[in-house]
Amino acid sequence: MTTPTLIIGAGIAGLWTALKLAPQPVILVTGAPLGEGAATGWAQGGVAVSAGREDSAEAHTRDTIAAGAGLTRRDAAHALAAGIGAEIDALRGLGVPFETDAAGELAMGLEAAHSHPRIAHIKGDQAGALILETLIRAVRAAGHITIRENMWATALLPSADGGCAGVVARDAYGRRHELIAAQTVLATGGYGGLFADTTSPRGATGQAMAMAARLGAEIRNPEFVQFHPTAIRTGSDPLPLATEALRGDGAVLVDRDGHSITAGQDLAARDIVARAVHRALQSGRGAFLDARDAVGAHFPEAFPGVFAACMAAGIDPRTTPIPIAPAAHYTMGGIATDIEGRTTIDGLWAVGECACNGLHGANRLASNSLAEGLVFGHRAARALRSATRPRFAPLPASEPPVLPRIVLNGLRRAMSDLAGVIRSEAGLADLLSRIDRLTTRFGETNEILVARMVTEAALDRTESRGGHYREDYPQSRAQAIDTVCNPAHMERLVAAE
Ligand code: SIN
Repeated sequence: MTTPTLIIGAGIAGLWTALKLAPQPVILVTGAPLGEGAATGWAQGGVAVSAGREDSAEAHTRDTIAAGAGLTRRDAAHALAAGIGAEIDALRGLGVPFETDAAGELAMGLEAAHSHPRIAHIKGDQAGALILETLIRAVRAAGHITIRENMWATALLPSADGGCAGVVARDAYGRRHELIAAQTVLATGGYGGLFADTTSPRGATGQAMAMAARLGAEIRNPEFVQFHPTAIRTGSDPLPLATEALRGDGAVLVDRDGHSITAGQDLAARDIVARAVHRALQSGRGAFLDARDAVGAHFPEAFPGVFAACMAAGIDPRTTPIPIAPAAHYTMGGIATDIEGRTTIDGLWAVGECACNGLHGANRLASNSLAEGLVFGHRAARALRSATRPRFAPLPASEPPVLPRIVLNGLRRAMSDLAGVIRSEAGLADLLSRIDRLTTRFGETNEILVARMVTEAALDRTESRGGHYREDYPQSRAQAIDTVCNPAHMERLVAAE
């Protein structure tokens, strides 16, 4: 009899992997009730797919590689571009209401650094929310999936063969559980929540990356964090997003005098625009997204999610420019995998934002993340079907200490200030010594371990590339090199591809 595959995480990647494994049994573990705490539900942009007549998977592949600034792997980019059309068809089959034109073809929007309009939207900015809702309905109805909600994974269980034997999780009462499996899939999202200025859920603090690193898995490129230029400056935590699709529809980035802050290049690559917004804020000019002319009265129907977030903060975007700031939005680094989701540890897999399979390189192309969860979730499910491995009795696993929330918030502020949009050796060294002090005081919690990996890798990378900008090293080196780190073995090395 097939033993159940354990999937940790219930965003698009975890849910799609679980569904695509049918009829093989799956135990789906999530730290919150299904639907809560997943970044998927907040994704506004849409799904990138080359379905337009002028467009092609090859052009989508090229754009993905160009955005990745020398570190995107071609096989991953091609797998995404060639595979996403079929996944969208499958979602439409489940009832996801993608926007279509009069001929019933997908209607395409434009986002930054895409050479063609190729973003498939769902009810304006509701792509993530409506996909998530549909997938949850399907997962709840699926006989092969057992759902364990409110179970927060804290550590992976080692097995005698040097692989993974499952996971340790705490339930809502703090009780410890050991869930044992031959195959464990991590799908818990990224570490954008380790920054104070973020659009990521607060739980997105790199839990999977820390757990995998402790087991000895290779971690790749943790320094690459994508800062979205247009988070809405509401003062809330996390910050709501004002989707790039607004700029695709003609909204402009201006200072408080109405002058462009990007010299008119509002749809340049995200890192370039984020730095322009950051500098405008630092210089006191202010930074705003002005959608009054481009969207105006249509705002409530065209972008219902952004409209609601603005109105809740007392900003009417039909009549007032939206105050914005850059915010950590997506993390390109993560657990190193191949394009089927295999990590460097037997029995351990990773999909979605917590994985680094080479798709995004140093910078993710807009709207490639929902697509990633679908394409690579499906690929992992296919590979898992034929993966054979016994269920090992676990070796003892200790859980890391817990960081008090107030201390975590201090660390998050320091991450935004010192490892944010613009970095320098002095700032990163200061951050590292703060992390050292926290480690002495609180032990190496999962959050501290991830913060350390990000900071050390950002210090080591003495160049600027993609989402990583060093003001003391503003140029890219001639050769693009991945950072490979494995803190469990106390070894940090920068290896050539
Ligand atoms: C956005 O809607 O601007 C974000 C889309 C994405 O992150 O891909």
